[in-house]
Amino acid sequence: MDEEVISVQHLHKQYRDHIAIEDVTLSVRRGEIFGIAGPNGAGKTTSVECIQGLRKPDSGEIRVLGLDPERDITRLRQRIGSQLQQSALPERIKVWEALDLFASFVPGESNWPALIDQWGLTGKETASFANLSGGQQQRLFIALALINDPEVVFLDELTQGLDPAARHATWGLIRAARDQGKTIVLVTHFMDEAEILCDRLAIIDHGRVIDLDTPQALINRHGGPQRLTFSTDHNDLDWLEALDVVQDVTRTGSQFTVTGTGSLVPLVSHALVERGIVPDDLRIHQASLEDTFLRLTGRDQMNGLAD
Ligand SMILES: Nc1ncnc2c1ncn2[C@@H]1O[C@H](COP(=O)(O)OP(=O)(O)OP(=O)(O)O)[C@@H](O)[C@H]1O
Ligand SMILES: [Mg+2]
Repeated sequence: MDEEVISVQHLHKQYRDHIAIEDVTLSVRRGEIFGIAGPNGAGKTTSVECIQGLRKPDSGEIRVLGLDPERDITRLRQRIGSQLQQSALPERIKVWEALDLFASFVPGESNWPALIDQWGLTGKETASFANLSGGQQQRLFIALALINDPEVVFLDELTQGLDPAARHATWGLIRAARDQGKTIVLVTHFMDEAEILCDRLAIIDHGRVIDLDTPQALINRHGGPQRLTFSTDHNDLDWLEALDVVQDVTRTGSQFTVTGTGSLVPLVSHALVERGIVPDDLRIHQASLEDTFLRLTGRDQMNGLAD
């Protein structure tokens, strides 16, 4: 069941004469971690702010849980959670005070002591925000975003500035929220994060979605050819080019490079073995999501800072 919880159609937003969002169309399914990636200034934050009803689009249609963020903002607020900007909390507020304060904005009872435990803040209840480590601050932000037990959670650059261990821990927490049935919208600049965490990913550039799919499908589609390298004493492997998946075979001394697509690795390996060639240094070079992102956004030519 792919129930759509967010639907965005032809979203457009301008700040004075500057177009922040040209034309964004996307949909998010219930229970998925949906990533949004794109270069600086691509329109990611503006898009998620419009989706949450924090900014008014100039045109386009948005539905979140069937609600119009402009007209139904009060009802929507009760059902979505949002990561705060770093500056949104006073430095001296204590962890328990922040949770208690945010819980007071939410109708009904909020079981925030359980969130303290769940998000690993036990023992830090009376610590002030400024005295938390970066990772603890992020966990507090997630706990605050979950205070109303929301169905959809928006996280914008959640792991920025975290050390690798804290990032990994945060990924675990985001998965845990997804496993509780929540839908997560995650804006990120980290392609490893997107590849590991996101069920689907939209790449936004110049205010448009340039592609949207699973990370692996994006890599397959745009990451460029795969490469296999190995060495052998055999001189002529041109016959490999007869395989549909093979685009090119090049040789430097005893080292061969085979480029191609699709099931290149198993088919070439099998063909080699069938002819009695069993290289012990066979290596696979596959495009990463980072390569894919750079190619897709045209930033692979080091021209990214020019625009
Ligand atoms: N309040 C604002 N007033 C005027 N222009 C704005 C405002 N907020 C954003 N912009 C501009 O709109 C464009 C999109 O900004 P946005 O913050 O959505 O980008 P982003 O994709 O989130 O970028 P980043 O990766 O740097 O966070 C940028 O060119 C930005 O300068
Ligand atoms: Mg942003």
